[in-house]
Amino acid sequence: MKNIILAIETSCDDTSIAIVEDFNVIALKTNSQIEDHSKNGGVIPELASRLHSENIFNLINITLAEANKTIHDITQIAVTQGPGLVNALQVGVTVAKTLSATLKIPVYGINHIEAHIMSPFIGMKFKEVPKAAVIAVASGGHTLIGKLNTRGIEIVGSTKDDAIGEAYDKVSKILKLGYPGGPVIDELSNSFIGENDLKAPVTDMKGFDFSYSGIKSWVLKNKDNYPADKLANAFQTSAVMQLTNKIDQLVKKTKYKNVVIGGGVSANSLLRKQIENDKLNIFVPKLIYTGDNAAMIGYTLAYKLNQNKIKPMKLTMDAKPRMKIGE
Ligand code: KG4
Ligand code: ZN
Repeated sequence: MKNIILAIETSCDDTSIAIVEDFNVIALKTNSQIEDHSKNGGVIPELASRLHSENIFNLINITLAEANKTIHDITQIAVTQGPGLVNALQVGVTVAKTLSATLKIPVYGINHIEAHIMSPFIGMKFKEVPKAAVIAVASGGHTLIGKLNTRGIEIVGSTKDDAIGEAYDKVSKILKLGYPGGPVIDELSNSFIGENDLKAPVTDMKGFDFSYSGIKSWVLKNKDNYPADKLANAFQTSAVMQLTNKIDQLVKKTKYKNVVIGGGVSANSLLRKQIENDKLNIFVPKLIYTGDNAAMIGYTLAYKLNQNKIKPMKLTMDAKPRMKIGE
């Protein structure tokens, strides 16, 4: 029998629903709350959870219709259990558990970070997914690097202060360019023509950790002395280089030939250019799967069902705002 997974993602400011049949996404609908939050310059958790509650059932119906399925065709439910904003996660988890109990089908809690790591593989069959790789997640909430191998995922470094996407968002606020900052700064940086003689320092933390607050302070200190495109270009060069430097170091250390990057910042044009390498296989998500989306949640469940390692969630289990990989 085919697996037809209903996937639900509500960890932050996107309500997202997907239908994943075996390893393929047959429908994906995301209701972004960006416009509602941008007036406040960032995500307001209380508003996020209210909007998830308002939108989720309608979105499930629309996504099922697009997939040409009814709720009774669904064989499993996948839901983001954590990490994320607790009240936002609870909306998805409660809806998922209720559907599971009513329809008498299993529900599985999926780790959001793990799903970002799996996002480049969406559409690939279990056997096609590399079993050893250097992995990195670069998003608004996380910056981390680690290893994927037969033992699972091991995180070896993470940010000690701001996440890379958070730094983009803060720099955008400093330059009065709105929220989210990533796409605007990326575009502004690309609009800078010629050699940039303005260099921003590249933080080099011990081991595999990251720090992005220094580069943000550097922009704040220099904001009145240079044009915005020059500043954005210097910032982007430094931000991306800090990440690619650590990836290079871990590739050298592990000798792995596969590199996987997921998360909202994996949409970045400079990162995608810099990461290209003849000697390595680079896996980045399709642009529609870079930000928060339910397709990666459903695909991660499909993968784990094939691994035979995942157990259904009990109805007494709740959201885990600080969920760790492998928990
Ligand atoms: O993965 P995501 O949608 O949400 C979290 O789980 O955090 O990532 C959102 C982050 C935001 O900080 C946004 O500014 C950043 O991804 N982002 C980018 C780009 N597109 C989105 N950062 C750099 N360059 C981009 N093109
Ligand atoms: Zn995310």
